[in-house]
Amino acid sequence: MADFIAILDFGSQYTQLIARRVRECHVYCEILAHDTPAAELKRRSAKGIILSGGPAGVYEHEAPRCDPAIFHSGIPVLGICYGMQLACEHLGGRVQPSSSREYGPAVIEVLADDPLFEGLDQRVSVWMSHGDRVGETAAGMETIARTESCPHAAVFHEATGLRGVQFHPEVTHTPHGRRILRNFLFAICDSSGDWSLSRFTEEKIEETRRLVGKSHVVCALSGGVDSSVVALLLHRALGDQLHCIFVDNGLLRTGEREQVVATFEETFHMDLHLVDAADEFLADLDGVFEPEEKRKRIGHTFIEVFKREARSLSEVKYLAQGTLYPDIIESRSAFGGPSATIKSHHNVGGLPQELGFELLEPLRFLFKDEVRQIGRELGLPDRIVDRQPFPGPGLAIRIIGAVTRERIDMLREADRIVQEEMRRYESYRDIWQSFAILLPVQTVGVMGDKRTYEHVVALRVVESVDGMTADWVYLPQELLSGISRRICNEVSGVNRVVLDISSKPPSTIEWE
Ligand code: XMP
Repeated sequence: MADFIAILDFGSQYTQLIARRVRECHVYCEILAHDTPAAELKRRSAKGIILSGGPAGVYEHEAPRCDPAIFHSGIPVLGICYGMQLACEHLGGRVQPSSSREYGPAVIEVLADDPLFEGLDQRVSVWMSHGDRVGETAAGMETIARTESCPHAAVFHEATGLRGVQFHPEVTHTPHGRRILRNFLFAICDSSGDWSLSRFTEEKIEETRRLVGKSHVVCALSGGVDSSVVALLLHRALGDQLHCIFVDNGLLRTGEREQVVATFEETFHMDLHLVDAADEFLADLDGVFEPEEKRKRIGHTFIEVFKREARSLSEVKYLAQGTLYPDIIESRSAFGGPSATIKSHHNVGGLPQELGFELLEPLRFLFKDEVRQIGRELGLPDRIVDRQPFPGPGLAIRIIGAVTRERIDMLREADRIVQEEMRRYESYRDIWQSFAILLPVQTVGVMGDKRTYEHVVALRVVESVDGMTADWVYLPQELLSGISRRICNEVSGVNRVVLDISSKPPSTIEWE
């Protein structure tokens, strides 16, 4: 087993970033609930514990806390921002609200010869983002760095092995932040740094073989990156014991079905069950205008079709899903109370129980770019590895109003042109999503001296890190005019193209 670092999550927007940085140092880590018992961390032989930042004040009644026993567990602890304040408070120091929030660049002066700052100058640029600060350190605690406005910018408590930093070493605005984290991982926690994605994949393959034995596994393949990587990884582990079901709901993009068949059946020789259920999905969408109703019906039909097909397979004991780490972290964040449903995402959550299957989620501890890298290593074509996200309900939620065959065909054609043109764009890889939407209005146009009265297509191109927020992209004019010209010329029934210049929030990425 590779060395393991535990990151306790107090709700900071940077918690995932800490995990990314640690893994970049080839040390395996997991983000755990803030109150994970010290005994659990010892049982898992954690080499080190990082306490994340967080939005609360430690003196607040409801503030999230950690098990105080972690400070006496013999495992080195690094508290970042709120994590440092919490540790200081637990050990007898005092935290106070600052009169003003300190947000932005600062320079710390290193006061002690501590391994945390090994290899750094005496003055180090850092990024601060805090309201509270440590006013008085605990007995036996040494201040190892300060700034002009923050007298205890970093501390060390010899008796417990705790170190705390008020600044954020995990953000790129702290130029030597990686070095500071490396120092914690290697000089202080003595990690070996021998974790890698290839090693993770090999271990996962072995573990899956042992777990599944001679049973069979079914996997819902959507053609997206996550389910494709799950399928490939399980195929490596299990060969013919893996069965993939790909449902053509009639709402896919041009060439998508053919690409899935070519990749998984022809190249990788997997047992692929292609279910053409377009008629069923479209019949169920007949006369439906309301976005949530569309999503519900598509989700429901998907489950029915999938169940039918899965039941036809014998000896299946497991259902594999491409759940990723951010899905899990977000569903149990320190402050993750119930949030309003803006759009109900289509998933197969209830399926395993209904079908009596056990769940396999081999990617549940990985981030998206790690999954992409594994995909590449397993030989998945770039077209799939670099694919933009495509929603489960497919083109239906990009057709505003009634979903008919004629309107699907119109949008699919426009979408094909957008994809073709966008792939030629030099910064295509920086784009989160680029797609067309069909609007429920007709406008007047003129073509070859004749009046036309036809449909409008909108173009949506956004940048985003995780889909939670997004900005519209300022594309070069030639690219925009090429897309517009081709859509009006090649898609019969469309005579106008408009550009969506809204960000999220207040808009969303998809129109429905
Ligand atoms: P919104 O429209 O909520 O989209 O800003 C955020 C991201 O989620 C994708 N999306 C979906 N993905 N099933 C999915 O698998 C869905 O029902 C769904 N709705 C939106 C959307 O494409 C964007 O990347």
